[in-house]
Amino acid sequence: MSNPVPTILVIFGASGDLTARKLAPAIFNLSKDNLLPENCYLIGVGRTPMQDRLFREYLKDSLGKYSRRIIQQEEWLKLESKIFFHTGAYDDLNSFTVLEEKILSLEKSLGHKVQCLFYISTPPNVFEPILDNLGESGLAKKHHGTAWSSKVIIEKPFGKDLESARKLNDVINQRFDESQVFRIDHYLGKETVQSLLVQRFSNSIFEPVWNRNYVSCIQITVSEEIGVGKRGGYYDKSGALRDMVQNHVMQLLALTAMEPPTSLNPEAIRDEKVKALKAIKPLGLRGEKAEIVRGVYSEGLVRGEKGIGYLNEEGIPADSFTETYAALCLYIENWRWKGVPFYLRSGKRLAGKASEIAVQFKRPPGILFGEDERFSLAPNLLVIRIQPNEGVTLYLNSKTPGLETKLQPIELSFGYETTFGSNTPEAYERLILDALNGDGTLFIRGDEAEISWGLLTPILDYWNEQKKEGLEVYSAGTWGPVGADKLLLARGHEWITGKDYK
Ligand code: BG6
Repeated sequence: MSNPVPTILVIFGASGDLTARKLAPAIFNLSKDNLLPENCYLIGVGRTPMQDRLFREYLKDSLGKYSRRIIQQEEWLKLESKIFFHTGAYDDLNSFTVLEEKILSLEKSLGHKVQCLFYISTPPNVFEPILDNLGESGLAKKHHGTAWSSKVIIEKPFGKDLESARKLNDVINQRFDESQVFRIDHYLGKETVQSLLVQRFSNSIFEPVWNRNYVSCIQITVSEEIGVGKRGGYYDKSGALRDMVQNHVMQLLALTAMEPPTSLNPEAIRDEKVKALKAIKPLGLRGEKAEIVRGVYSEGLVRGEKGIGYLNEEGIPADSFTETYAALCLYIENWRWKGVPFYLRSGKRLAGKASEIAVQFKRPPGILFGEDERFSLAPNLLVIRIQPNEGVTLYLNSKTPGLETKLQPIELSFGYETTFGSNTPEAYERLILDALNGDGTLFIRGDEAEISWGLLTPILDYWNEQKKEGLEVYSAGTWGPVGADKLLLARGHEWITGKDYK
């Protein structure tokens, strides 16, 4: 299934962590599966001078550390001579002109026009100069006849609030057509996230119950055991809401809540996601109406190991009030979801790593088992595990064997690994391949990013005003601040992820 168009993949921020951990392994695994064009070149761009030889060694080394499969020597040699490094400042047009000359000379030696995929994987403060210089140099508008042959992938964070996201979209729109733009959210590349649409829309048993008549609440948890590690400088300016909720969690929400699209066309899918996001009611910020909770971790034990508190992490100022945990309760004001709470939470240094969507169904009428406490009737749950232990579990009530009538939840479970084996492609493999092929389905459209920021920016502003006021402290290794439990209890629910249902 090799892509026939000769391609040059240009990575800005090539000596950064993401290139080593994710991009290089993804590119080489695509090559191993013969999914890259026959003629595929890689040009890394960075500010610190590096010779081609050193850049090649750096990539080879990162493959040894991070690739999901071993890359054999002959596979490496197939690509090695097609890797180059270009040193240049991102705000210097001249450096882009030189880059263009390199591209033109490759085209000449190939005797064929190439497509260019520009991957912006730098800190966000240089996104705009790079986009502008791609525009000014003419690289943004390369085309074959009427089709664009240049594309741009933009890493997160896509802005830091509504205003900055709009500004970034403006810069992009001045330089590129939206069809050339691929805003990354790596969650969309995860196999299990892609499978969400398949599960929802290829099985007829879900659609009839996927609405306010049967669903009592929906919970989305993206929890991590790790702390901020060496990323304190970035994280303290971001926080859980920007870092995880605005993108990954909101995307999971959109895919869970959207209406069936009329086709698998990228725009049809993204239109439905946008409609669902647009229907979210602004969240209550204050007092009794508050639908938001934030917290910061203090020291504690995570899996038996002592972890330090956030304020003691490297690069965190003593007066920081950045949240490492956020929980929200929101409502989608449309025919399908009116009145159903969607609880979202994400945090670092929690008791477990889990990305899950849990759909809790309403209880059956209490005529036979419901009102009698002896039976302890549990609600039906559908838990979609994005990671780890990828799979789906449906919890039903069953009779405990014995002479007495007792009920007990049982699980109908499907695990990806048991069914399909391990070693599925990494998110970045799928995303880079789709961008090469011009398929934007698994990328965020400009309006999606703005709607999500529009919803969360008032919360960020409010927390910024409040500073430490209302910022709860939770011990590392727990499931987060008590306020998040209260948020659900007040609405008759409890968090599902982390609770033992057996
Ligand atoms: C990134 C965040 O987008 O996602 C990180 O910046 C976070 O803070 C990471 O750790 C989590 O990704 P995953 O794939 O490990 O769930």
